[in-house]
Amino acid sequence: MSTVSQSAKRITVHTLKKMKAQGEKISMLTAYDYSMAKLVDEAGIEVILVGDSASNVMAGHETTLPITLDQMIYHAQSVVRAVKKSLVVVDLPFGTYQGNSRKGLEAAIRIMKESGAHAVKLEGGEQVAESISRILSAGIPVMGHLGLIPQSIYKFGTYTVRAKGDTEANQLLADAKLLEDLGCFGIVLEKIPNLLTKEVTESVQIPVIGIGAGKHADGQVLVIHDMLGITQEFNPRFLRRYASLSETITDAVKGYINDVKSKDFPSEDEQY
Ligand code: KIV
Repeated sequence: MSTVSQSAKRITVHTLKKMKAQGEKISMLTAYDYSMAKLVDEAGIEVILVGDSASNVMAGHETTLPITLDQMIYHAQSVVRAVKKSLVVVDLPFGTYQGNSRKGLEAAIRIMKESGAHAVKLEGGEQVAESISRILSAGIPVMGHLGLIPQSIYKFGTYTVRAKGDTEANQLLADAKLLEDLGCFGIVLEKIPNLLTKEVTESVQIPVIGIGAGKHADGQVLVIHDMLGITQEFNPRFLRRYASLSETITDAVKGYINDVKSKDFPSEDEQY
């Protein structure tokens, strides 16, 4: 018997809801360019997030704040061109929806129109409810993001685990229910205690995807450069590395340099 995701031609927000209802875990990874997105889609991932973490891993910024809407659209276009089955979700970048729901809607429409992505994601609960409602009213699926919300890093000051105390945990739970009531199709929970994730996941019908939020979420998301071991400095407890590509790439580049210098490359067979 095939699973919900195997039997779907294309993954949609409805597929994800069915997966939660049937207890099938959801896999999600970031991608920002054509070649990586093609590999990730062909490997069978259900959701590709064109995350604003592109600001860190693609552009080398310290935070996610500097990336622009035009840059996010460029990354999203590259990903969408590669994808045949996965659902493509794109982050609304910092400054496009906070405090101005009309601007938020304009940004979401640009992403959908210019990239061909399938949904947008934005950070926060109650304080961005108006933006979420306005975007949803245009028929654009919205994913929420609670817990550690990197676009607010300067408000919190650190990247430590969030919602450890009762006040923040209760607010997060209320925000999760609000996102569901507004009509979001899913929620990312970042870096919160595992038992709070369990409570949220059991309290809402929409899929909850965790990053550093423990095993009780309906699915998991990681930044692809981290799980492939391309980034080296970032080593949080929640990160499982599935490859050590930084070593593989460094060894390959060194081998190439060596072969060029020693005149081993190109050989007789590698020229015209
Ligand atoms: O931008 C991103 O990569 C994200 C994930 C960490 C969920 O929002």
